Amino acid sequence: MDIRTDEVAAGIYRVSVFLPQAQGGAGFMFNHFLMVGDEPMLFHCGLRKMFPLVSEAVGRIIPIKKLRWLGFGHFEADECGSMNEWLAASPHAEVMHGAVGCRVSIGDMADRPPRVLADGEVVDLGGKRVRYIDTPHVPHGWDAGVVFEETTATLLCGDLFTRLGGGPPVTENDIVGPAMEAEDFFELTSLGPTTAPNIRKLTEVRPATLALMHGSSFQGDTVGALGALADRFEARLQAAMTR
Ligand SMILES: [Fe+2]
Ligand SMILES: [Fe+2]
Repeated sequence: MDIRTDEVAAGIYRVSVFLPQAQGGAGFMFNHFLMVGDEPMLFHCGLRKMFPLVSEAVGRIIPIKKLRWLGFGHFEADECGSMNEWLAASPHAEVMHGAVGCRVSIGDMADRPPRVLADGEVVDLGGKRVRYIDTPHVPHGWDAGVVFEETTATLLCGDLFTRLGGGPPVTENDIVGPAMEAEDFFELTSLGPTTAPNIRKLTEVRPATLALMHGSSFQGDTVGALGALADRFEARLQAAMTR
């Protein structure tokens, strides 16, 4: 496995683990984003078994004891499997998530109580500001949500645009085509009438960067990419309904 750390926006570091043999040799990427501020936040704790690797990489940027916030898109092992390892290593850290995630899973599974966020609530990290946005069932999970870092206009969009294979830390190339190929491979998205509207809602923040959990971060026409992704899922829903 390969691990690398890159600053993908000012003060936002992407710790990326690439498994070249995963998914039948296509390879697969797991990204964890550290937002540096007075109250540093890690978005995606990562798999429990990757904790030694990821925490060592994060520890080269800031002492992990200083981590204040932990976040992730939804309750799933690659997103939060190492949540309690981080809580043990970072005594001031708290998990933050939406109401559904906290009430359904995190409140019970986390070793310390989480901070429950309302849809649209902003948390000031001191130098960075993160806004939590509920995206139920998008791309999957009742508890799903994303985070928008306002000072850099970075949308940490979790499993949206998931792709197979590797890639550079940042790209301006198409991310919609590879995401739909991965959709055919994994069938990861919970397709329903709210899928496309929930994705389109994310264009309102007009991101400069889309920080993907499983793919290169994207800088370019982010509104166009989100709109195209929504269109593709809407077309798939229509096709499924007429079958
Ligand atoms: Fe997921
Ligand atoms: Fe994921």
